[in-house]
Amino acid sequence: MAFPSLLILVSLVHFCVGSIFTAPEQVASKTYDFIIIGAGTAGCVIAARLSEDPSVKVLLIEAGGLDDGTAAATISIPLLAGTGVGTPIDWNYTTTSQTGLNGRQIQYPRGFVVGGSSSINGMIYSRGSSEEYDRLATVSGDSGWSWNKLQKYIFINEQHTPPWNNRSNVGEFNPRVHGKGPLLTGLTPTVFGTDRRVIQTTSDHGHKYPFNLDLNSGNGLGFGWLHTTVGNGARSTSSSAYLHPALNSRSNLDLLLNTQVTRLVSTSCSRTFKGVKAAQSATAQQYSFNATKEVILSAGTVGTPQILMLSGIGPAKQVQNVGIISTLDLPDVGANLQDQTILALQWQVNGRTLSSFLNDEAAVGAAIAQWEINRTGIAAGNTVCIFVDTICFLRLPNNSTLLKLGDPAAGSNSPHFQLAFLVSTIRLPSFANTFFPNVNQIAPTTGNWMSVSVVVQSPTSRGSINITSSSAFDHPTINPAYYTTAFDIGTAVQAIKTLLEFLSTSAWNGFILEPFPAVAALTTDASIEAYVRAFADTLKHPTSTAKISKRSDKGGVVGPDLLVKGVKGLRIVDASILPAAVAGFPQAEVYIVAERAADLIKRAWSLT
Ligand SMILES: Cc1cc2nc3c(=O)[nH]c(=O)nc-3n(C[C@H](O)[C@H](O)[C@H](O)COP(=O)(O)OP(=O)(O)OC[C@H]3O[C@@H](n4cnc5c(N)ncnc54)[C@H](O)[C@@H]3O)c2cc1C
Ligand SMILES: *[C@@H]1O[C@H](CO)[C@@H](O)[C@H](O)[C@H]1NC(C)=O
Ligand SMILES: *[C@@H]1O[C@H](CO)[C@@H](O)[C@H](O)[C@H]1NC(C)=O
Ligand SMILES: *[C@@H]1O[C@H](CO)[C@@H](O)[C@H](O)[C@H]1NC(C)=O
Ligand SMILES: *[C@@H]1O[C@H](CO)[C@@H](O)[C@H](O)[C@H]1NC(C)=O
Ligand SMILES: *[C@@H]1O[C@H](CO)[C@@H](O)[C@H](O)[C@H]1NC(C)=O
Ligand SMILES: *[C@@H]1O[C@H](CO)[C@@H](O)[C@H](O)[C@H]1NC(C)=O
Ligand SMILES: *[C@@H]1O[C@H](CO)[C@@H](O)[C@H](O)[C@H]1NC(C)=O
Repeated sequence: MAFPSLLILVSLVHFCVGSIFTAPEQVASKTYDFIIIGAGTAGCVIAARLSEDPSVKVLLIEAGGLDDGTAAATISIPLLAGTGVGTPIDWNYTTTSQTGLNGRQIQYPRGFVVGGSSSINGMIYSRGSSEEYDRLATVSGDSGWSWNKLQKYIFINEQHTPPWNNRSNVGEFNPRVHGKGPLLTGLTPTVFGTDRRVIQTTSDHGHKYPFNLDLNSGNGLGFGWLHTTVGNGARSTSSSAYLHPALNSRSNLDLLLNTQVTRLVSTSCSRTFKGVKAAQSATAQQYSFNATKEVILSAGTVGTPQILMLSGIGPAKQVQNVGIISTLDLPDVGANLQDQTILALQWQVNGRTLSSFLNDEAAVGAAIAQWEINRTGIAAGNTVCIFVDTICFLRLPNNSTLLKLGDPAAGSNSPHFQLAFLVSTIRLPSFANTFFPNVNQIAPTTGNWMSVSVVVQSPTSRGSINITSSSAFDHPTINPAYYTTAFDIGTAVQAIKTLLEFLSTSAWNGFILEPFPAVAALTTDASIEAYVRAFADTLKHPTSTAKISKRSDKGGVVGPDLLVKGVKGLRIVDASILPAAVAGFPQAEVYIVAERAADLIKRAWSLT
């Protein structure tokens, strides 16, 4: 990270330090109705909603620290989105060697800070298709998870805001599908030539490349403007939107930082898991806490199955292999891991993009300095590593032979792949160590470059998370098993062909100058496949390691109410419960699931 201005201690975000604790002994003698594990995307929503009832006491335990100090700049400044990767607010996981990616091991970031991954992610806000939620209802047997029934939770979660410069967004989104929630979203403050050409192509060839006024309307197919979790010139996270407002106004919510939950313990002989053990390091003293009502596990797709297995809940053999007594044989804990990958193709273009700005350290430093004054300027609305203003979600052609392998999409109006249009190169020398470290494609630093990222939205490869020891402080193994099915690799190849065809339409004439070298060689299916295996990186969207199923199903980890099957007192609320990789981007769905889950918990305990 090369920007000196980042070394300035930023104290722009003033948080009240109400009920915030940094050592377990400070809260060890207190009693709580609910204990929430992980102050991440879902955990902060649950903590804020449950503590709305003044009669309950809530403890939220987070392994990482607060989003203040130096971390505040990295987290809050939209331009710096992505630069938290590989820093003290990242867990710094790595995958196992991926056979589908020529044996490469992939750096695997997850947020290690309040807000969790919502504090370090690419800020894209994309709900996916209505069918995505209807599938959740079908697999769980609970119609309450359907798109129509979830509308009220969507509206209390999110709110559309204008960009910092008040650029008109008329005709770029549908205000009727956005609500009044604390999570702020918005569209780009600056429109570039690439964006105009994407939209122009949809008007030139609307049948083939349809414009979609709002990809968050439930109709998640077609081309449209991309929403990000940015409002008032700053990133909106589950911490800024939910946690801090709750801490500032309530005394019944305690936040315990820098403390890792090491396992859950049974508090009665009837498999009631309301006990939590936690410590600040592998060698530090273990403290125990009991919830009188429930424990809610929100440690994410990696952390949640790890904690379950450490507690003896999971595949019995895997648990016993590291010397833990199996309490409950639940084979799907840690199984069904699904993740999406990103791959970029780049072109030098005849028109301004952000790549020249981003390669100019002085200009970037000045932009950050301006942001620090009044949260305006180029740092206030465009992100460093994603820079996407327009995006499309598409299906394979109806006659594609790949669909004979079965259609993994959530329905016939849900995508198989995504193309996102970046007004920059995917990797910049000055940000080299951040978002896509495995994508070894640094384009020349001169000229203006655009990139298009290609994502297989509905992968059929299945991997797993596994513990490697009985210590919570040892990283689990993460094996997403990328590109281990014919469908996944075939879909990536088709997506790239669709992209090359899209860019050959008239709107792009004279704009696209020269492809980044490797792109020029993509002339056959075999060469495209080789490119995918050489350059695909994680999009950082793992799900499904504690997946939801019907109460009566033998498989799955949680039932429709998100209670863990076969035990009492324990619920899971995070991306691990999702049945499959999402049709959009996961954070929107995690927020929506968390809002309804909080309501289910409140109803179960008759809270207000
Ligand atoms: C770099 C990056 C970029 C991404 N970009 C996007 C994007 O642009 N758009 C999008 O929609 N999604 C994106 N995602 C994915 C999205 O952010 C996640 O799917 C979502 O935030 C997951 O929410 P969660 O609640 O399941 O987990 P998290 O938000 O990760 O929360 C888990 C929390 O639990 C804590 N924890 C874990 N284990 C323990 C323990 N033992 N004890 C105590 N605390 C623990 C963690 O520190 C963390 O705070 C991205 C993710 C990353 C990492
Ligand atoms: C992640 O790695 C960076 C760089 O080595 C380090 O500074 C940081 O402390 C690590 N994060 C954690 C949670 O250990
Ligand atoms: C945008 O509009 C708001 C509300 O009307 C106003 O306060 C703000 O100064 C405007 N910002 C710019 C850059 O015009
Ligand atoms: C939690 O409950 C268990 C079982 O009832 C008990 O043994 C333990 O002492 C309790 N711990 C605390 C901190 O209350
Ligand atoms: C923000 O600060 C910059 C730099 O001082 C200034 O040029 C700009 O006018 C300010 N904008 C607003 C809306 O206050
Ligand atoms: C593909 O099939 C679906 C229904 O199966 C139909 O709605 C759609 O119009 C078809 N697309 C094309 C391009 O024919
Ligand atoms: C699918 O249809 C298109 C256009 O109708 C055609 O060009 C292509 O060859 C067909 N593909 C297959 C696999 O049949
Ligand atoms: C999980 O890890 C254990 C301990 O390292 C190992 O024995 C087992 O084979 C692994 N199982 C899977 C499915 O990866």
